[in-house]
Amino acid sequence: MKINGIPYRSVWVDDKDGWSVHIIDQTRLPFSFQTRRLTTAADVAQAICTMQVRGAPLIGAVAAYGIALALRVDSEDKTLNDTAAMLMNTRPTAVNLHHAIQRMVAYLHPISPHQRAHAAYEEAARICEEDIQTNKAIGNYGLDILQEIAHKKHHVHEPLHILTHCNAGWLATVDYGTALSPIYMAHDAGLNVHVWVDETRPRNQGASLTAWELQSHGVPHTVITDNAGGHLMQHKHVDIIIVGADRVTRTGDIANKIGTYLKALAARDNAVPFWVALPSTTIDWTISDGLKDIPIEERSSIEVTHVTGRNAQGLITQVCVVPEKTKVANPAFDVTPAHLITGLITEKGCCAATPKGMLSLFPEMKEYYSDSL
Ligand code: MRU
Repeated sequence: MKINGIPYRSVWVDDKDGWSVHIIDQTRLPFSFQTRRLTTAADVAQAICTMQVRGAPLIGAVAAYGIALALRVDSEDKTLNDTAAMLMNTRPTAVNLHHAIQRMVAYLHPISPHQRAHAAYEEAARICEEDIQTNKAIGNYGLDILQEIAHKKHHVHEPLHILTHCNAGWLATVDYGTALSPIYMAHDAGLNVHVWVDETRPRNQGASLTAWELQSHGVPHTVITDNAGGHLMQHKHVDIIIVGADRVTRTGDIANKIGTYLKALAARDNAVPFWVALPSTTIDWTISDGLKDIPIEERSSIEVTHVTGRNAQGLITQVCVVPEKTKVANPAFDVTPAHLITGLITEKGCCAATPKGMLSLFPEMKEYYSDSL
């Protein structure tokens, strides 16, 4: 992804200054593009908790570097285990975080302590590279779907209208994104696309991050309130919905940003295809019931009571939008059951959101289905 013509990833290492880890501070966007240097595992945990970095694949990749940063100071088993536990507790819903940390621990344990820090950086870099390749593949498979729907449109001069929720773009991954990857590919391939961007309250990742990304890449888009999607679908202004995911069960239920479920319900009522784009690192093969088994993060009430924006003087400020002392709830994710999902777009191809569909792409996971097949 390029910012003002300069290629960026969402996380990178600077080996000139002692292997520090750099991120884009996403809490500053869209108003200011600022990067931050992380030098300790505690920095990494704080960046994840405060959502300076966010998005399921990205928090996994940054956490992997968090382990490398800790091992640079002390590479004994205890540090490895304690750092893994600390990072694991930063956010509960996205399983990519767990998978990345588990992968680092499994890889590093057999390596002798004096070689561990270097090995950790290398493994974290591999996680990042794999994420990029995965997202490119998701983009290519998703492009086929977009082209097919575009060809079926009656009004050929009308753009293909795609609705997305939250931010599942390059900022949520190391590069390219998941749900946005097919959109970038379609735009680059000359397809006439237009994106409806849900603002995505309470933190407004759609309005602040997805709109910023799409604008940077020159993709036509319109930000809408979270409640506008159903209306647009009823009036045939949405051809397809693509969203990302934070955790997917082996049966095809998905957890994604709060409000995704309502989009899926409206999509079903209006026969709009509802696709979910995800890397296989987002699949939790150990669980089968999304509603029961996926932990939903409850975030601070201030995200609901206050809205952050830029005022007329150019200052970034927070304003309160509810009466004082009002009780507030802030579940950050919801579960969309598999039966509302048209299909999953993965790096291995597309499939139905069913055990059979998922097994067709990942036959090596058969052992997880012994009870249900
Ligand atoms: O709370 P966030 O901003 O981390 O939530 C992000 C999402 O819900 C994304 O849609 C999901 O992580 C997929 S990112 C490729």
